[in-house]
Amino acid sequence: MGYETIEITPMTPRIGAEVGGIDLTKSLGNQQFQELHDALMEHSVLFFRNQDVDVEQHKNFGRLFGDLHIHPGSPPPPGHPEILIVHADKNSKHIAGENWHSDVTCDAEPPMGSILHLWEVPKSGGDTLFASMEAAYDDLSERMKIYLDGLNATHSGEQIYRGRYNNQKHDDTNVTYPRNVHPVVRTHPVTGRKSIFVNKTFTTHINEIPKAESDSVLAFLYSHCAKPDYQVRFKWQPHSIAFWDNRCVQHLALWDYYPQVRSGYRVTVKGDKPF
Ligand code: SIN
Repeated sequence: MGYETIEITPMTPRIGAEVGGIDLTKSLGNQQFQELHDALMEHSVLFFRNQDVDVEQHKNFGRLFGDLHIHPGSPPPPGHPEILIVHADKNSKHIAGENWHSDVTCDAEPPMGSILHLWEVPKSGGDTLFASMEAAYDDLSERMKIYLDGLNATHSGEQIYRGRYNNQKHDDTNVTYPRNVHPVVRTHPVTGRKSIFVNKTFTTHINEIPKAESDSVLAFLYSHCAKPDYQVRFKWQPHSIAFWDNRCVQHLALWDYYPQVRSGYRVTVKGDKPF
């Protein structure tokens, strides 16, 4: 695809591209927005360097792609309900994204995309891995594709969010976390490509088959989806931004830098019901 207003450098043939020639602290023109959107559709995750956006610029960038999502569990910074804090330090017991997942798939309409800006990063480590679920789907045998066709899986926030934010003075005793059913293989609403849409963090079981079979099929899919062949690995610098398409990408944040600090904000764009 030809780009006139931005520079696109693919990082692997299957997933990921660096974007140059753009300043996200400024508002984008129509053509620049359209080309960014096209690049996201083509590469599934985009990486930007040296983008010192403030919280309003970050949110405004996200709003170009849709309404902003509000996280069902994580307490936001004061005055910014649409912001997810991504922070780890020597007191952390968990980090965001420590298992493979696509964001908030427990929602009825899981987010379309997520835009993460980190301003403080460890001296080394703290990379994020992104995996193309379209490449993973394409590589399945034809027999497995037929087997998975028409199956649905339950995704729940309970086992991941319950009690997790209590150390931030957040009492979730009366909170009911989302639980929803989505197809095991979803079709991208823009590109029409199919991808595997179950993940280790939120998916509890495949609905139409016995539990033992569901456990085995999910275990196979998780190890298949985690093959390095489908991945791109991003090394953060202060004020890097990653923008991923949750409809066809899973990601995993490495926590190999404890007790160092890694810190930033994520803006998440609402999505639609998977089909
Ligand atoms: C996440 O949004 O899951 C966190 C990703 C990261 O911190 O790299």
